[in-house]
Amino acid sequence: MKITSKELRQKWLSFYEGKGHVNIGAVSLIGDGSTGVMFNVAGMQPLMPYLLGQKHPKGTRLCNIQGCVRTVDIDSVGDPSHFTFFEMMGNWSLGDYFKKEKTAWTFELLTKVFGLDKDKLCSTVFEGNESAPRDNETAELLKGLGIKPEHIFFLPKSDNWWELEGTVGTPCGPDNEWFYPLNPDKANPVFPDDYVEIGNDVYMQYKKTATGYEPLDNKNVDTGFGFDRMLLFLNGLTDGYQTDIFRPVIEGLEKASGKNYSEGGENAKCMRIIADHTRTAVMLIGDSQGVLPSNTGAGYILRRLMRRAIRYCRQLGLSGEAMLGAANTFIDIYGEAYPLLTQKRAYILEEIKKEADKFEATLVQGMKEFDKCVTSIARKNEFMSKSNPDYVKETEINGKQAFRLYDTYGFPLELTEELASEMDLTVDRKGFDAAFEEHREKSRVLAAGQFKGGLESHSENATNYHTATHLLNAALKLVCSSDIQQKGSNINEERLRFDFNFPRKLTEEEVAKVEGLVNEQIKKDVPVVMKEMSLEEAKGQGFVGVFESKYGEKVKTYSIGEFSKEICGGPHAPSTGRLGEFKIVKQENVSAGIKRIKAILK
Ligand code: ALA
Repeated sequence: MKITSKELRQKWLSFYEGKGHVNIGAVSLIGDGSTGVMFNVAGMQPLMPYLLGQKHPKGTRLCNIQGCVRTVDIDSVGDPSHFTFFEMMGNWSLGDYFKKEKTAWTFELLTKVFGLDKDKLCSTVFEGNESAPRDNETAELLKGLGIKPEHIFFLPKSDNWWELEGTVGTPCGPDNEWFYPLNPDKANPVFPDDYVEIGNDVYMQYKKTATGYEPLDNKNVDTGFGFDRMLLFLNGLTDGYQTDIFRPVIEGLEKASGKNYSEGGENAKCMRIIADHTRTAVMLIGDSQGVLPSNTGAGYILRRLMRRAIRYCRQLGLSGEAMLGAANTFIDIYGEAYPLLTQKRAYILEEIKKEADKFEATLVQGMKEFDKCVTSIARKNEFMSKSNPDYVKETEINGKQAFRLYDTYGFPLELTEELASEMDLTVDRKGFDAAFEEHREKSRVLAAGQFKGGLESHSENATNYHTATHLLNAALKLVCSSDIQQKGSNINEERLRFDFNFPRKLTEEEVAKVEGLVNEQIKKDVPVVMKEMSLEEAKGQGFVGVFESKYGEKVKTYSIGEFSKEICGGPHAPSTGRLGEFKIVKQENVSAGIKRIKAILK
């Protein structure tokens, strides 16, 4: 290796620290929700308020290396250059320096620190449109630094303008992109065919509005250079899975499967998919706002990645547990840059194993079911074509079949689609959605029907929800903060609703912990004990509850072992065992600082 990943990290950060930047470190991969984007897709995303003018506590010159997750290209992962997780090396000027310093520093970093040949560098700048002028200024600065004039190209907005897609109110602007020949020894390389983009400096001086762009007070710089790309390129490699980050993982997979990566083809593709998806899974589970596989939101993306990886493990002749070896190696590799991964090692591995076990338990059956669908389509086509030469062959797996694979065998729709496309078939997505809705409606009606079943069940249900509310209250105090207090509660036959003081939504990990604690109490079938005493006495014994009572009047207290002690009017279940399975189904904002949880008992 000419330069290791560790050296590259250090060089980037120390170069910009040397220019007065503060390393702000990386934040969670999970977006803060402000842009509607689920994951951070660029280093600038967490810095948006500051690019829009808010003062940053660490000053006006910042740098870091930020992890990002982009899943739009997931279908391309498997080739040598696509990844779902990547790191972006970034630095920012928040209304501080602008084009003169930035062009000079990028040039210095590329030519002096990384030793690139200035005569081979190419650079593109914005050609201008009705929103912003042609960037002659940057072009002149580049020439002044020694970049050949014939290596500077003016390009339109589609190439040289950077903004987060689909979001209004975000900072954006023209960018200056840097290119280098993929093979620096090639004589007379032609731009752009023989070149790769290595990074870009965005001159963020506009804000995107619903109708166009308006200038910002601050002229900012937002620089982003892809870490993996740079590592590859500085080492003269063309396959992103041959860097020191991936090599040990690929070697592990070679060893486990007895197959050679260097032979290319399907086996290499499987290894890349397993490696890429496992890395993203490790990063998401090990994130500061840790995600766990689930059927919604970020958790569902994680599940899709993991299940896809497991399927490719099997294609390689390995079980899904092969991911554990890969995950362990990634934690070794990233442990220094991401110490949290090392701390959470056992947890990450355990969660991967759980998901692998869960999926593998149904995978074989699911594959049989899938094969049945394919065979029945083929049979029908054969039969119909015989009797009718004009018959148009069926090429689609219907929505009901796809839903069955999802619901009964845990196949994410995309997995069915991928399997189908390998057989030159498609999947009826609309039909899948319809089947999904129908199923949801049926469950709803069923739940309502059970409720109508009789007064007896009515009150028992509500009583169970009362008791579950106490368990939830206690669990939230343990998992989130001891300061949590009930701010509102509402119970009906189908769910409980609980409002409480907390500044943010619970992470998936916290939700899982709260559910775990409540379900643990339910499993233990703890008796719910009622005692009447004075309010003073109750408070003295550690019972909580917002309660008024006249002096001397007795209040009812309910204890569930040592886990929950509340002052409450009741009624409650006699013991926790009959509550069923507790599940948080929704989180909402009520008002500033007040969050709401809706939960059900299954
Ligand atoms: N925000 C710019 C990018 O993501 C730097 O490429």
